Parts: sequence; C-alpha cells; structure tokens
Amino acid sequence: MDREAIAAHLDFVLKETNFPELGARRQGKVRDVYDQGDTLVLIATDRYSAFDRNLALIPFKGQTLTAIASFWFEQTKDIIQNHLIASPDPNVVVARKCTTLPVEVVPRAYITGVTGTSLWTKYQAGERDFGNFKLPEGLKKNQKLERTVLTPTTKSDVHDEQITPQQIVERGIIKKELWEEIERVSLALFARGQEVAAAHGLILVDTKYEFGLDAEGRLTLIDEIHTPDSSRYWQLGSYEERFAKGEEPEYFDKEFLRLWFKANSDPYKDKVLPEVPKDKVAELSSRYVRIYEQLLGKPFEADFTMPILERIAKNIQSLKQ
Ligand SMILES: Nc1ncnc2c1ncn2[C@@H]1O[C@H](COP(=O)(O)OP(=O)(O)OP(=O)(O)O)[C@@H](O)[C@H]1O
Ligand SMILES: [Mg+2]
Repeated sequence: MDREAIAAHLDFVLKETNFPELGARRQGKVRDVYDQGDTLVLIATDRYSAFDRNLALIPFKGQTLTAIASFWFEQTKDIIQNHLIASPDPNVVVARKCTTLPVEVVPRAYITGVTGTSLWTKYQAGERDFGNFKLPEGLKKNQKLERTVLTPTTKSDVHDEQITPQQIVERGIIKKELWEEIERVSLALFARGQEVAAAHGLILVDTKYEFGLDAEGRLTLIDEIHTPDSSRYWQLGSYEERFAKGEEPEYFDKEFLRLWFKANSDPYKDKVLPEVPKDKVAELSSRYVRIYEQLLGKPFEADFTMPILERIAKNIQSLKQ
C-alpha cells in the first residue's frame, strides 16, 4: 500500500471495542483484552500511546502489528511454545491465557536510544558496569555490541524498573532454573530474529519479550514478538555507511511523533493535547506498513468494504460465550 492510499484512509481506524459477549474486558494501552477463562481474545486497536497517554489513531497499526507478531510466532515456535491459538480477524488473536511472569526481558545488540532507560544514555553518563555485563570504553552511538546483552525490567503499573538477573533470582522474583531457561530462550529468539530480519534487509536492534506459564506450568512466550511497537528496526543496507559517517541509521521508530508532541505541548502536564498533523499520522502509518511489507515480503492489503469494528464483530461470532 502506498502513501497516497494511506493518506486517503486516515479515518479508517479502530479506536476501541466493546464486546461484552466475549468476556470481561481490560483495556491495555494498545489492545483490548477479553478474558475467556482458559483463553484471552486480544484485539489490537490503532491507538498510539506515549507519555502514558493515548495520543493518536494510526491507520493500519493494529492490523500490521497483529500480522507481524503472528509471522514471528510461526518463525520461532521451534524455540519455545507461544500463546497463539488462532487469528480469526486481521486485528484479533485468540491466545492461551498464562500466568504472566513479572519481568520483561530486553535483548540489545546495539548501543542506542535517547530516553533515560536507554543504554546509550547511561553509557554517556559514565555507566560501564551493568551487573550482568560490562561495556568497554570508546563505544560510539549505534555501534554493534560484541555480544547481545539482556537488560531485564520489572513489570509495574507505575513505570518499569531496571533489575539485574542476579537481583531477579536473589529477590525470589523468579527461581534460578526458570530464569536460566528464560535467558537461554530470549537469546535464541533474538538470534533467530536477527537472522530472519537480515534476510529481509533489516537489523533487529533490540526488543522486549514477555513470558508466562501455561496451565501445565510450561514457559510460554506471550503478548507480542518482534513488532515495531516492542522492537527497534534499522535498514541493514545503509547501516554501515551511515554509521561510519556518524549519521543516524534509517529507522522506523515512532520517536519522531514523541518529539513532535514535546515541541508542541507539554505532554506530561497539558490536559488537552494538540491534534497531530495529518501528514505525521500518514508518515507513521506508512512506517508500520513498510515494515510489514519488507518483513513479510508481500504487499499490505486492507479490506475497505466495511468498517473495522463491523468486520471484527462478524469474525468473532464463534468466540461469543
Ligand atoms: N497469553 C497471555 N496471558 C496473559 N496475559 C497476556 C497474554 N498475552 C498478553 N497479555 C497481557 O495483555 C496485555 C496486552 O495489552 P497491551 O499491550 O495493550 O497492554 P499494556 O498497556 O502493554 O499493558 P498494561 O495495560 O498491563 O500496562 C498486557 O498486559 C500483556 O501483559
Ligand atoms: Mg504491551
């Protein structure tokens, strides 16, 4: 799908859903989650959130994220079982409900980022010893690390906090053996991710995994995997040359929209935020579509014959309780 088609469909968005017949609803930042007992129905909306607020609706975001996650669940199911059971609609996933583990695992292959929690920010502030790994002197922004590092965070309602693997085990958050399995699996998933991404001309820079335990107590990959919301991707073809010149890689981040809000408002304080200009919405939408097309190797297509909500209602008939 090209920029013109996207620009012509800026109103073709899914803001939220309300299907009481699917079970109790919980609204995450991006997805509406319905609890069906042993399973969850996850509906990906087009909500774009940052600064813990819902800032815009981005056409095709929900559909591209759902398809990209399903692609990766398939590509990695030999490494670890995942929660995916079915996808009855382009925005909907039926998943095995798991007991979620209270940490998020973040593998990183490059030193980058601009936020307070990013490796580059900490490195610039002088940090070298990260508990489970040390970084050498003289690294440059966006440089590839000698080996992939894991920077876990605790899952909390307020904000995620850095924690070392040693602390995770010592504080009894996760037992040693299970944590070792999580580490092994995370590195294997990430290595697979880098390999497959490279075959499609992309660098998987970093990502975030969530794990749970299924009814039998088996470790299970849940939530989403290697989506542009949970990961950073760069174009592989131009990376070396741009890095050598000290230029930023060709990236897909939604960072530019965050910067726009910072420049045009105080997103932490202002009650009402300005509306994002249409060209910015189209730009972000086209980034999601581009990653989809590059990774899945096929053109992105959307069904415009009926509103998204109506289509979902039709496709979830059999899931009603
Ligand atoms: N298989 C699963 N079993 C249990 N919970 C899951 C599973 N898959 C995903 N989840 C949870 O469902 C939610 C997905 O919604 P979304 O990503 O929009 O929320 P979020 O804003 O990241 O999370 P939260 O609202 O908890 O902060 C997350 O809380 C995620 O941990
Ligand atoms: Mg989430």
